[in-house]
Amino acid sequence: MGAGPGHPDLITIAGLRALQQAEVVLHDALIDLAGFQTLAPSACWIAVGKRSARPSPHQGFINRLLLSHVRRGSKVVRLKGGDAAVFGRLGEEIAALEEAGVRVRIIPGVTAASAAAAELAISLTQRAVARSVTFITPASAGPQAATGQRRAARPWAQAAVHADTTVLYMAGRERVGVAKALLEEGLHPETPVGIVAGASLDTQAMVTTLSAMALGGVEFSDQPVCLLVGEVLRARLEAQRAGTCGQRAPSVGAG
Ligand SMILES: C[S@@+](CC[C@H](N)C(=O)[O-])C[C@H]1O[C@@H](n2cnc3c(N)ncnc32)[C@H](O)[C@@H]1O
Repeated sequence: MGAGPGHPDLITIAGLRALQQAEVVLHDALIDLAGFQTLAPSACWIAVGKRSARPSPHQGFINRLLLSHVRRGSKVVRLKGGDAAVFGRLGEEIAALEEAGVRVRIIPGVTAASAAAAELAISLTQRAVARSVTFITPASAGPQAATGQRRAARPWAQAAVHADTTVLYMAGRERVGVAKALLEEGLHPETPVGIVAGASLDTQAMVTTLSAMALGGVEFSDQPVCLLVGEVLRARLEAQRAGTCGQRAPSVGAG
């Protein structure tokens, strides 16, 4: 089940019903865990979340834990951040369960890209501006992917150049390296970038340019961060520069 980007209000009604019937909930590192627990107070809540740069349970362990609770006859919800089908290791868990003969039902959720676009009040596919959106991460090749790879080993950056709108997941810590890589790939220094941390809960959001992001200097609290890149942010950037729209609370502003 997709838990959405953070605020429990953003789950679906199907998700709410599943939680209300759950006896066991295996959950990711949710921003507002206490808020979700109020929706299923009598269930047994077990944390299996992976957090970047912190010790996390191995995927094989999570698969075995899921199976062991199902085999005991419990009604199990696997609650994953955002939409489970977007950078959520969903395929591995479906495969493990189906191999064991367990039937699964997938309940979609609001992915971070949608929540971040909502926080910035932009359309990812603004008509006449953007016909494609790429969801991409530099993180899959390891934590140094954004800054440590040579050009040939950065397919994510090349993909970003070909998309009208790009949403980068798991790139918040590496955003300076991401900006430098995108500039090296040929994106214009004035390309607008949205940085959204903690979408839907204690959100910090701002619009800047690739060249400004490459300089660093903007600190966000320890929240998950999405980067949005493309001309769909141009009007927001111009409005911000003209002082007709606010940005919300990063500790230092830039761009
Ligand atoms: C492992 S991925 C999981 C994505 C999730 N399945 C989804 O659909 O949103 C984690 C990344 O999602 C993004 N993310 C998740 N929640 C977010 C939020 N509330 N605000 C901004 N970005 C978020 C961040 O880029 C974070 O590093």
